[in-house]
Amino acid sequence: MNQTQVKEASHYIQGKLNHEPTVGLILGSGLGVLADEIKNPTTIPYSEIPHFPESTVSGHKGQLVVGELEGRQVIAMQGRFHYYEGYDMKQVTFPVRVMKALGIETLFVTNAAGGINKDFKPGNLMIITDHINNMGDSPLIGPNDENLGPRFPDMSEAYDRDLIVHAKQSAERLNLDIQEGVYVGNTGPAYETGAEIRMLRTLGGDAVGMSTVPEVMVANHAGIRVLGISCISNMAAGILDQPLTHDEVIETTAQVREDFLGFVKDLLKTLPA
Ligand code: HPA
Repeated sequence: MNQTQVKEASHYIQGKLNHEPTVGLILGSGLGVLADEIKNPTTIPYSEIPHFPESTVSGHKGQLVVGELEGRQVIAMQGRFHYYEGYDMKQVTFPVRVMKALGIETLFVTNAAGGINKDFKPGNLMIITDHINNMGDSPLIGPNDENLGPRFPDMSEAYDRDLIVHAKQSAERLNLDIQEGVYVGNTGPAYETGAEIRMLRTLGGDAVGMSTVPEVMVANHAGIRVLGISCISNMAAGILDQPLTHDEVIETTAQVREDFLGFVKDLLKTLPA
């Protein structure tokens, strides 16, 4: 993936749009329904876009939806690319580079995650305050294009502080059962063992998932401010005496769908400039 490919992809998308999007939305497993609420949508399947990979997981649609949501011009990814699908980190984060080229300044990243923190309950939403890259890889490895961002980017505030405050205020207004915490990005595709979850808890993790970290690293590199929201779809392995299934993840995210939709819409409506 290189700048020429980013340009070709963004030019293709631009050719279909009347407005420049300012907010990007990456919608995780079971959360893609948010894109159905976008007004006057332009829908572009990933398969049409030059150099875009195609998403392969059930529960993910695989298209961009661009249009207006709560008075903002947004570009939503209905379905993302995961490292466990076999894409490399540059492919996983290619859409973030493209969204940057299209003009976004803010990125909302969402996911389904397992709760490591024992105070959490399935169905909670969690504002991501920080992350741990436990993937053993980075999308920023390789030659650095100084036009895109610095060689050694700061990650000390990977999740924008003002946006975290904004999200907390919004959650309070809406009376949501909200948590905040540290997201651990694992490669997957296997769910963790109980021992791994105990380790991650010791290391400071509150929730674990198989995405988000690469996209957030690239967004920070590119100077995009990030807000992250996890939907706690299940308690992580070894906490409850039951196996984990993808069906459970999809079921729980469906149950909190209304809360999630209301939350993101309120966040957009009241987003500080
Ligand atoms: N572990 C990793 N990824 C996940 C989980 C989990 O428990 N739940 C949803 N995504």
